[in-house]
Amino acid sequence: MAQLNLGSIDILNPDLLVERGYPHQEWALLRAEAPVFYYQRPNVRPFWAVTKHADIITVSRQPDLFRSSQYLFVTLDEPGAPPDDTVFLRQLLNMNPPEHGVYRAVVNRRFTPRAVQKLAAQIEEVTTEVLQEILGRTECDFVTEVAAKLPLAVIAEMFGIPRSDWQMMFRLSNSMIAPSDPEFAGTESIQETLERTRMEFFQYFSQLIEDRRKAPRDDVAAALANGTVSGAALPQFELLSYFALLIIAGNETTRNAISGGLYALINHPEQMALLKANPSLMVKPAVEEILRWTSPVIQFTRVATANTELHGQPIREGDIVAMFYPSANRDEEVFENPNRFDIQRDPNPHLAFGIGEHYCLGANLARLELQAMFHQLAERMDGVELAGPIKRMRSNFVGGIKHMPIHYRIDPRWA
Ligand code: HEM
Repeated sequence: MAQLNLGSIDILNPDLLVERGYPHQEWALLRAEAPVFYYQRPNVRPFWAVTKHADIITVSRQPDLFRSSQYLFVTLDEPGAPPDDTVFLRQLLNMNPPEHGVYRAVVNRRFTPRAVQKLAAQIEEVTTEVLQEILGRTECDFVTEVAAKLPLAVIAEMFGIPRSDWQMMFRLSNSMIAPSDPEFAGTESIQETLERTRMEFFQYFSQLIEDRRKAPRDDVAAALANGTVSGAALPQFELLSYFALLIIAGNETTRNAISGGLYALINHPEQMALLKANPSLMVKPAVEEILRWTSPVIQFTRVATANTELHGQPIREGDIVAMFYPSANRDEEVFENPNRFDIQRDPNPHLAFGIGEHYCLGANLARLELQAMFHQLAERMDGVELAGPIKRMRSNFVGGIKHMPIHYRIDPRWA
C-alpha cells in the first residue's frame, strides 16, 4: 500500500469500506500522529476524529460538555442525503441528561444482567432452531441464514412481534441503517428511503401500541406503550422512535458481531481450533475478544458545548467530535499486540459498547446471543471455510458483512 499521510487519508468513504473493510492502518496513523485530528475533506462536514481509547472515555463521560444531538454520526454529503440536523427519530441516542436518564428508565430494568439472564434458555433454544435450518446442508449464506436471524428473533420475541412480521422488521432496519446501500434502497434517494422506512415502522408500531394498551402483556412493547415519563405517557413521536431504536439497535449490531466473529475465526484457524477444543471459552474471554475485534459500531458523534481541550487539542464550542470505537479497540497503549485476534485475551477493556451515559442498553443481551451462537457453532460445525467472497454493507456507521457464503461439515452427533 502507498505511504499513508494525514493530508490524504480517507476514513469515511463507504465505497472504500465495502472494498477493504475498516481503515485500521489509517486509524493507527491517526492514533500515532494526530489522536484528535481535524478532518476536513470535500463533501464532509469538518469534525474532530477521536481515535484513542482514553480520549473516547473522556468525551463519553462528560455528556454536558460533549452533547448528543440529531447528528449521530459523520457521513459523506451524498446526493439525495437529508440535511444533517433532520429529526428522523427522537430517542435515547440523541437525548441528553436529565431527559436521557428519564427515558432510559422506561425499559432499563428489562435489560439488566439479571433480567436478561432469565432469557438465556430461550436464546439457546432460538439459536438451536436457527442452526437446525442449515444442518442438512454443507453450504449457506451465514449472514442471511444464521447471523441475521438470531438477534432478530430475540428482539422480536422480547417485543411480542409475531413471526410473520420478522422479515419485515429485518428489511426495515436494514434500510434505516444503510439507506445508501443499493441492495436496500432500490431506486429511491437516501432521504426517500429513510422517510419511507420510518413511515412503515411507525404504522406498524402504532398498531402494536394500540394493541398493548388494550390488552397489556409482559413484553417490552407493553412496557413502552404503557410506560410513563414525568408522570405521563410518552409523547407519540418519542414512543414510536423508542420502538424503532430498540428494533434497529438490537438487530444490526449483534448480527455483525456474529458474522464478523465467524469471519475472524475462519481467518485464524488456530483460534477456531482452540474454541472447538474448549467451547466454554465463549463464556468470558472469547465473547469479549469477538466484540473488540469486530467492533460493529464504527462511530458516534458529540457536539462540544463550550470551548475546551482534548488530548491537548483546543476544541471550540459547536465543534463536532466523532469517536471511532474500532480504533480505540486497537489502541496499542491499552491492548498488547492489538492486531492479534486472541480469544483468551484477558483483561479486555474494549469500548465496542461505548461507555458512560449512553453505554449500550443491550450489551448484556448481545453477549448472551454471541455466547449461545459461538458455543453451539463450536460444538456442531467442523471445517468451516469461505465458499466465496464476502460482501460488506455500504455504511460508515455500522460495519457489517451482508453476505458470507460458507462451506462446513456438521458433527454427525447433531446432523
Ligand atoms: C454487538 C452488539 C452491539 C454493539 C456493538 C452495540 C454498540 C452500541 C454502542 C457503541 C452504543 C453507543 C454508546 C455510546 O454512545 O456511548 C450503543 C447504544 C445503544 N444500544 Fe447497543 N450495541 C449492540 C447491541 C445492542 C442490542 C442487542 C440492543 C438491544 C436492544 C442495543 C440497544 C442499544 C440502545 C438502546 C442504545 C442507546 C443507549 C443510550 O443512548 O442510552 N444494542 N450500542
